[in-house]
Amino acid sequence: MRRFYIKTYGCQMNEHDSRKIAGLLAVRGLQPTDAMADADLILFNTCTIREKAEHKAMSEIGRAAELKAARPELVVGVCGCVAQQEKELLFDRFPLLDLLFGPDQIPALPRLLDALEQERRHVSALEIVNDVDEYQFLNLTPWADGVVSPAAAFVTIMKGCDSNCAYCIVPQVRGREVCRPADDIVSEVQGLVERGVREVTLLGQTVNTYGNRRHAGVIPFAALLQRIAVETAIQRIRFTSPHPKDVNDSLLAAYRDNAKLCRHIHLPVQSGADVVLRRMRRAYTRAQYLEKVAALRGAAPDLAITTDMIVGFPGETDADFAETLSLVETVQFDGLFAFKYSPRPGTESFARLPDDVPPATKDERLQRLFALNEAIVTRRYAAHIGTTRDVLIESRDEGDGRWRGRTTHHMIVHFIGTECVLGDIVPVHITDAGGYSLRGEKR
Ligand code: SAH
Ligand code: SF4
Ligand code: F3S
Repeated sequence: MRRFYIKTYGCQMNEHDSRKIAGLLAVRGLQPTDAMADADLILFNTCTIREKAEHKAMSEIGRAAELKAARPELVVGVCGCVAQQEKELLFDRFPLLDLLFGPDQIPALPRLLDALEQERRHVSALEIVNDVDEYQFLNLTPWADGVVSPAAAFVTIMKGCDSNCAYCIVPQVRGREVCRPADDIVSEVQGLVERGVREVTLLGQTVNTYGNRRHAGVIPFAALLQRIAVETAIQRIRFTSPHPKDVNDSLLAAYRDNAKLCRHIHLPVQSGADVVLRRMRRAYTRAQYLEKVAALRGAAPDLAITTDMIVGFPGETDADFAETLSLVETVQFDGLFAFKYSPRPGTESFARLPDDVPPATKDERLQRLFALNEAIVTRRYAAHIGTTRDVLIESRDEGDGRWRGRTTHHMIVHFIGTECVLGDIVPVHITDAGGYSLRGEKR
């Protein structure tokens, strides 16, 4: 095997896992390629959060299996959450597949590749690791694959999820929460800094529950933020996704006192109606969510807040949906991802609650939510016109030569300027807004 191709679906966790996989493959001497047809090893890092995500992966896996029919020496593998969910059934469905491994088994990849080289038939590793003493966090060595951005990097701080939201497949495919020792996290951040990285995003399914389940080397989440700020030369710290139930006083204090903490939080709410939140088992009420938002804005007045919503959860009435719209009006989010409820086999709501909101109603609610949100976000972005923002330069647009970067609020800025270097943080005067981005000129 000489060249590998990885197709990634799903969340930042998967994106980052693909980086780790690429790192392991690079250590074995494989080169990345952007073209599936050129690869000797094709891997699909899959997502099963909604039916649509799973279907997309399935049809691409089918296509790769066809490639393999013409080139029998090609190795095709599936990893990520569909692999974890469907397990060996995927071998029955796609007999040409060679390799299956779950998210907790990425460290086993070298061993799996050795096995493939010997027998080349249906090799798999699908155990979920819940034992804190057995889970292996990979120390990412981005320099091994050469793909690290000069500006920003992800750092895994925990894996799994101990919540039990009724609709959600994640606890099944990612297992229990396991937190990584703080020392390892701090030294990974410092290692990234030494490679020129200026901003880290700490990753976990419920990232701010880090430290709730105490084990060796693990400290409270806000203390971890503080250690990273004090002990490393990183310039910006982000994290995603926090759970509202664990937005507590120490996190508020971090927003007040930790100047490296970016002024943005992605705080999924899912619904604005108490009855729906209760049925979803979200562990907070509408009022409690609003209180957290107010407290966060008290601590960081210019905080940008984005969220996730589900429309058409079982039993959601027009009146419940009106509560969702009114919550969006009240909070004034800076961005919103909204999804139609998708029943996932194996979840509580799949087993116990009929998917009773008609597809047309789900569509219509989604459209209304997007329309409301778009009007709000347009105003929120426009409010930055005339200000000067520090922008971390991430890339340059090929077309018009403008630089592209992000503000502390996680807003994208396209700007013109001289003496710009990727990874620098520069002041940009904001002159225009629209299309979920800002435009400006370097000061
Ligand atoms: N760990 C994160 C979210 C993970 S999934 C958190 O708890 O905040 C990302 C988003 O997908 C969720 O916030 C939710 O809005 C959506 N989602 C999850 N399961 C879903 C389902 N069965 N149907 C539709 N949307 C879903
Ligand atoms: Fe899923 Fe809920 Fe866990 Fe988020 S907190 S990953 S929505 S179970
Ligand atoms: Fe999807 Fe797995 Fe992430 S189901 S959203 S890739 S944790």
